[in-house]
This record gives sequence, structure tokens and C-alpha cells, in this order.
Amino acid sequence: MTTQKNLVDHRIQSLLPVALASVLVLGIARLVLDNLKSNQSIVFRLYGNCVGDYRQRKPVFVSVEDVMEDDCNGFEGKWVWDNESYPLYTEGSCPYLVKQTTCKKNGRPDSFYQNWRWQPTSCNLTRFDPLKLLDILRNKRLMFIGDSVQRGQFESMVCMVQSVIPEGKKSFHRIPPMKIFKAQEYNASIEYYWAPFIVESISDHATNHTVHKRLVNLDSIAKHGRSWQGVDILVFESYVWWMHKPIINATYGSPDNIQEYNVTTAYRLALRTWANWLDSNINPLMQRVFFMSMSPTHLWSWEWKPGTDENCFNEMYPIHDSSYWGTGSNLEIMEIISDVLHGLKTNVTFLNITQLSEYRKDAHTSVYGERKGKLLTKKQRSDPKHFADCIHWCLPGVPNTWNEILYAYLLKSHKNQFYF
Ligand SMILES: *[C@@H]1O[C@H](CO)[C@@H](O)[C@H](O)[C@H]1NC(C)=O
Ligand SMILES: *[C@@H]1O[C@H](CO)[C@@H](O)[C@H](O)[C@H]1NC(C)=O
Ligand SMILES: *[C@@H]1O[C@H](CO)[C@@H](O)[C@H](O)[C@H]1NC(C)=O
Ligand SMILES: *[C@@H]1O[C@H](CO)[C@@H](O)[C@H](O)[C@H]1NC(C)=O
Ligand SMILES: *[C@@H]1O[C@H](CO)[C@@H](O)[C@H](O)[C@H]1NC(C)=O
Ligand SMILES: *[C@@H]1O[C@H](CO)[C@@H](O)[C@H](O)[C@H]1NC(C)=O
Ligand SMILES: *[C@@H]1O[C@H](CO)[C@@H](O)[C@H](O)[C@H]1NC(C)=O
Ligand SMILES: *[C@@H]1O[C@H](CO)[C@@H](O)[C@H](O)[C@H]1NC(C)=O
Ligand SMILES: *[C@@H]1O[C@H](CO)[C@@H](O)[C@H](O)[C@H]1NC(C)=O
Repeated sequence: MTTQKNLVDHRIQSLLPVALASVLVLGIARLVLDNLKSNQSIVFRLYGNCVGDYRQRKPVFVSVEDVMEDDCNGFEGKWVWDNESYPLYTEGSCPYLVKQTTCKKNGRPDSFYQNWRWQPTSCNLTRFDPLKLLDILRNKRLMFIGDSVQRGQFESMVCMVQSVIPEGKKSFHRIPPMKIFKAQEYNASIEYYWAPFIVESISDHATNHTVHKRLVNLDSIAKHGRSWQGVDILVFESYVWWMHKPIINATYGSPDNIQEYNVTTAYRLALRTWANWLDSNINPLMQRVFFMSMSPTHLWSWEWKPGTDENCFNEMYPIHDSSYWGTGSNLEIMEIISDVLHGLKTNVTFLNITQLSEYRKDAHTSVYGERKGKLLTKKQRSDPKHFADCIHWCLPGVPNTWNEILYAYLLKSHKNQFYF
């Protein structure tokens, strides 16, 4: 172990001059990008003749700023106002956003929610660099699996990288239950797979699914699993679909034996099915697995503003009480996730984004989103009590931060592979 560590240290030192030189090059490019705030057309005009070789720049995986200390808990910290570096992209600069999340375009009057940066207490988050992410994803597939919250994270990730790829070198396809973004010159793809319960259910059709009638097949995953086979980086999430009621109809064993299960019992059984699938299908040398913790909801304003009886509508600022935790983020479910992950043979990285997202009562789509696939009408908008969506997130917004954290992990492990 010690010799290995020395070896690493030694290589870090010898690589440093190269790294520094490259940091300068990237630094300049980044300045240009930052100043332009992802105005695609200008970026490419200024880049001019380097458009052709933007991808040929030598990959840089070692730089002082990339080092996120091993003991740093990136999930503990606070939101700080930063309207200089955020948002990482604008609604208008990303053609792949769907109307469910484009809050400003849908009429949201304030845009403060786009300007907060997550600042961990004991370290700094690696600055997101789309070119580095594309290098990491070269010849690889990154797939997000889960419900519509996870779809938001997927779309956000696509928007975070797509502006550095010229027209004609990228594609976006909807192949239900998947969405696939490709960066052709990198042979890289960022994908989404609709599976709101991870395991199979009657809600697996990408668009034609029932919201109120739910039936989950707690021990069935093979059909989905075939589409996940061999994917290099898998990011799983599943929560809100379980939380409709305290009990849920499900099958386990015989598909004809439908019973009502406690949600917690059902969730545990489903995650075990998933865990077994991982343990017999994942090659730890080739594949990487992440699991996102619960995305919080802000359905009851009395939780952060005692005495009120509203929801996330009209909220413009994050919560500053660092111990805030809403009752929507079920601690029993958190425990189950922890149990199942600890029992796994496969190495799964748990991204515990619940607490940092709990603070963001201001960042949901509220009445500037959609219901049943349609934007809210004027009349519905004037009735936030019934129509505000306090589950989904505006983009750009909180899911960008989840992706910045995911990126920090990918960068770190990529570096390690580079050394060993
Ligand atoms: C982007 O650049 C074009 C000119 O190429 C300009 O007309 C447009 O206003 C810019 N958009 C933003 C959001 O800056
Ligand atoms: C950024 O925020 C500061 C502080 O609130 C404000 O004074 C400034 O005008 C803002 N800048 C932009 C470009 O919005
Ligand atoms: C984080 O960044 C700030 C400003 O760039 C710097 O002053 C601080 O030392 C950094 N903190 C750590 C732990 O690296
Ligand atoms: C392109 O990427 C896929 C995985 O996404 C991989 O299977 C294939 O080998 C790659 N092609 C080349 C030429 O490397
Ligand atoms: C949606 O699914 C239901 C039940 O499976 C089916 O009867 C209906 O025809 C489907 N509708 C569409 C538009 O595909
Ligand atoms: C389970 O299904 C039965 C039969 O369709 C239904 O009556 C019952 O309400 C369902 N239970 C739940 C918790 O949805
Ligand atoms: C279901 O939940 C209720 C209330 O939390 C509990 O009393 C009951 O024992 C649970 N049943 C099972 C089978 O876990
Ligand atoms: C995730 O973070 C929350 C808040 O910091 C903590 O209470 C919880 O135990 C963590 N979950 C796991 C599985 O570590
Ligand atoms: C699991 O992943 C973590 C984080 O990348 C790494 O530090 C650890 O060594 C891995 N463990 C195994 C058994 O591969």
C-alpha cells in the first residue's frame, strides 16, 4: 500500500509541469467561455478555426484545482450567491430542455434560483469543465436511470456539455423508454432510461403510464437490465413514485399474486432485486455505478415557515437553517438505501444530495411547469395551492449541482486509473 502511494506521489510530481502548462491553455479557453456565458454562436465564432481541433487538445487530468481531498464531505456545506459563474448554461442556449423545466420561459418572474453555488464546508468543488467530462466519456456510455426527477438531471448534464460541441457533431434521439445524446467525435453518449421504480412496473411505458394506479413487480428487473448491460457509468435514482401512499400494490414471486405492501417493505425488496442484478451483471473493472439519494419535495410551507399553509410557490431564497430537513425525505427509506448498499459486493458510490437539495425550496418548477404533459393554464397558475409542482426542479438549477458532484467523482476515479 505504502509503495503504491509513493509511486503515485512520485508520478504526480513528475506530471506537474505538463499539467500546469495545460491548465494555462484550458484556463484561457475557459475565460473565453465564461465571459460568453455559453452563447453558442459567439463561442464558435471566437473559437474560429479551432472548432475543428477543440477535441484534440491533450486531455488534462491533473491540476491543482482538481484535487478534492479524500476526507472532504462534498455534501455538507451551504449555498452561496454567485451570479458571476452561475448558471452554467442558459435556457436559451440549450435546445434539449423540455418545457417541464424551463421555468423562466414559462413565465417565472425571478431568476435568483439560477445563481446559487454549492459550497462544501471543508473543500471546494471542482469546477465543471465540459471538455474534461467529454474526455472522461470518450468511447463510453453514461446512463441515468429513474423517474422524471432523474430525467431532469440527465437533461441538465446534456446542457452542461453540449455547448462546446459544434453543430453537426452531436445528436439527440428519443427512443422510448430512452433518450440518447451523442457527442460523435468522442464516441460518447449520455443517456436516460425511464424506470420510475428501477424494478419493473405497470408505469414503465415512457409516456403512457398511470400515475394513480401503481403496481410494482418487486422481483422483476431482467427486462430493464438488458438495456443497462455493459453501460460504462450507471446512475440510478428512485423515490417519489414510491411515496404516493404508505402502501403500494405489488407482486413478489408469482406475478398473479397482487398484494398491498408497506412502501418501506416494498422499497427494500425492490432494492434487493436491484442489488442482486448488480452483483451478477456489473464488471467492477469496467463499469461504475452511482446511486442518488432522495430528491426532496417542498410541499408544506409550515415546515420552514411555521404558521403558514402554502407550498414552494413564490419562494425565492434557499433555506439557511443548516439543520433543516423536511418530512418529505423519509429517513426510513434512507436507512434502507444504506443497508442495501452496505450489503453489496459491487462498489456503488452513493451521492447523498438530499440535504443540500432540502435547502432549495426556491428551486422547484412551482406553477411554471406542466401537469399531464401540458403547461399550466392561466387559471391553474392562479391557484398555486392546488397546482404548484414542488417536486420537479427548474433548469438550470439544483440538478446542475448534482452533476457537478457526479463529475468530481468521475474526474477523481479517472485520474486514479490514469496513475495505476
Ligand atoms: C448570442 O449571440 C447573438 C449574436 O451571435 C446575439 O444576437 C444574441 O443576443 C446572443 N444571445 C445572448 C443570450 O447573449
Ligand atoms: C450580481 O449580484 C450582485 C449582488 O446582489 C448585484 O449587485 C449585481 O448587480 C448582480 N450582477 C448581475 C450581472 O446580475
Ligand atoms: C476554496 O477557494 C477559495 C477561493 O478560491 C480559497 O480561498 C480557499 O482556500 C479554497 N479552500 C480550499 C479548502 O481549498
Ligand atoms: C464507441 O463507444 C462504444 C460504447 O459506447 C464502444 O462499445 C465502442 O467500442 C466505441 N468505438 C470505438 C471505435 O472505440
Ligand atoms: C395507453 O395504455 C393503455 C393501457 O395499456 C392502452 O389501453 C391505451 O391504448 C394506451 N394509449 C396510447 C395512446 O397508447
Ligand atoms: C390495490 O389494488 C386494488 C385493486 O385494484 C385497489 O382496490 C386498491 O385500492 C389498491 N391499493 C392501493 C394502495 O393502491
Ligand atoms: C406496515 O406498517 C405499519 C405502520 O408503519 C406497521 O404497523 C406494520 O407492522 C407494517 N407491516 C409490515 C408487514 O411491515
Ligand atoms: C445522507 O445525508 C443525511 C444528511 O446529511 C444523513 O442524515 C444520512 O444519514 C445520509 N445517508 C447515508 C446513507 O449516509
Ligand atoms: C470503491 O470505490 C471507492 C471510490 O472510488 C474507492 O476508493 C474504493 O477503493 C473502491 N473499492 C473497491 C473494493 O473497489
